[in-house]
Amino acid sequence: QRHPIIPGFRNQPRIVAVSQDELKALVGQAALQYVVQGEVVGVGTGSTVNKFIEALAGIRDRIPGAVSSSDASTERLRAAGIRVFDANEVGELAVYIDGADEIDGAGHMIKGGGAALTREKIIAAQSRRFICIADESKRVEVLGRFPLPVEVIPMATQAVIRKFAALGGAAQVRQREGRPLVTDNGQHILDVTGLQIRSPLAFESEVNQWPGVVTVGVFAHQKAAVCLLGTAGGVQTLN
Ligand code: 5RP
Repeated sequence: QRHPIIPGFRNQPRIVAVSQDELKALVGQAALQYVVQGEVVGVGTGSTVNKFIEALAGIRDRIPGAVSSSDASTERLRAAGIRVFDANEVGELAVYIDGADEIDGAGHMIKGGGAALTREKIIAAQSRRFICIADESKRVEVLGRFPLPVEVIPMATQAVIRKFAALGGAAQVRQREGRPLVTDNGQHILDVTGLQIRSPLAFESEVNQWPGVVTVGVFAHQKAAVCLLGTAGGVQTLN
């Protein structure tokens, strides 16, 4: 990593944080050490990332800007005075910083609780390193307790639900205000329960090629290089 803005603080003081919100703020702040001076940073979506955006605002003069994974994050970045670039305007990014709904010991994740999984995967793939920021409740042995988000083309919804049923999963169309939620890409989200994803790489490859699936919320091919886990004892770095 070139010119980190904040030197690493692996041996940080033991901070006792209590609430989940404080743990998120802790890892949001800790992620600054991975932001590279003078380089555009990839920014994810969610309540943990919102803490990172707050922290990033403090060093906005030292980066050209960000590539954002959702309209919601774009709005927050701009409100924080951070320029937002289209992914097509920039080349490879040094880092992508995002949260997760679950993360296993190898850095494989379930993502998409905020319905932004497709753009998140695009930016993760455009980045050299994925830095995951999460509180300790997200750490699991096997992915699948959190309902797996899958972005689908609405026409294929029932066919994809049947495919998951054959694997033992129960899929439901995510609703917002009594209607199917529409993503930033104009598609729908299925949330799938009842799965135990023991081979995340193979699972992601398989589901990705089902007709009508835009993106499956398993991030195994684009897994985290580093996970900053907020715990009551401080930030644990897993890599
Ligand atoms: C959004 C995501 C988020 O990163 C994930 O849902 C975690 O969110 P939070 O930080 O609010 O717990 O994948 O699509």
